[in-house]
Amino acid sequence: MLAARYHRYGGPGVLTVEEAEEPHAGPGQVRISVRATGVTPADWYLRSGMLKEMASLRFPRIPGMDAAGVVDEVGEGVTGTSVGDAVFGLVPLDRLGGAAARYAVLEAWAHKPRAWSFETAGGAAGNVETATRVLDALGAAEGMTLLIEGAAGGAGTMTAQLARARGLTVIGTASERNHHFLDELGVTPVTYGPGLAAPGPTRSPGRRRGAGRGGQGLPRRPGDHRRRPAPRGDDRRLRRRPPRSTVLPLRRGRARLVRTAVRRVPR
Ligand SMILES: NC(=O)c1ccc[n+]([C@@H]2O[C@H](COP(=O)([O-])OP(=O)(O)OC[C@H]3O[C@@H](n4cnc5c(N)ncnc54)[C@H](OP(=O)(O)O)[C@@H]3O)[C@@H](O)[C@H]2O)c1
Repeated sequence: MLAARYHRYGGPGVLTVEEAEEPHAGPGQVRISVRATGVTPADWYLRSGMLKEMASLRFPRIPGMDAAGVVDEVGEGVTGTSVGDAVFGLVPLDRLGGAAARYAVLEAWAHKPRAWSFETAGGAAGNVETATRVLDALGAAEGMTLLIEGAAGGAGTMTAQLARARGLTVIGTASERNHHFLDELGVTPVTYGPGLAAPGPTRSPGRRRGAGRGGQGLPRRPGDHRRRPAPRGDDRRLRRRPPRSTVLPLRRGRARLVRTAVRRVPR
């Protein structure tokens, strides 16, 4: 099969398109004919060698952790998914790649919502998995209020929409230019900066303070901690407007499907 691959760490120039061996679905997996794959910050960190102390790669290597496509092989023990189904999902986490190819094996997946194109679905799985895991860890349920830092970003947007789908009230920090977008998601936008969090009961999934927002503590970009200094003295930060509309990318049933699949992934 044709695949994007690289044979050494480096910039985008190390990527090449070449023949690679086809993968096959093992127990609990499906293989898809890939229609779209996402390029995430983690793909970049891995290819550049930024994470080689944490995850040293074997070469040649196919990038891509998120993908969408049509199932063409179903592994032993898989139920509820058949050949021909349109799905989106994640490659096995221990492989940390493999989706930028004609065929890819997925270990966690859900059926692609009809309203989504393959391109949209192909970039969604990592953020859906992260958002679902965070909401589960917080015990997020109807009636709760959630503050999401960086709500207009990839992980934030998905967490906000899935939280709204669970019936939570969501407040999201973002730059002013993204406030209208958050309004459209049913999220109350707030400008980020010091003094944002009021004293009161809070819950966190137990991550250490100061780690990367919304994830595994990975840097977003080199030197990121110096970017976008937080504005000070903005008393109008919280605009007390009720959410206007809600965008639900996944029906509740679909969200549960993702969660079920994700629980099978060893960590
Ligand atoms: N599996 C995982 O654990 C996982 C998965 C996905 C992401 N992550 C992690 O989650 C983090 C976010 O990733 P992403 O893909 O969502 O990034 P992203 O799309 O670049 O979004 C980051 C957001 O952070 C906001 N931001 C910038 N400076 C800020 C500040 N000082 N205070 C509050 N918010 C600020 C930006 O908001 P404005 O544009 O509105 O200024 C931006 O929308 C990264 O650390 C990433 O590694 C982890």
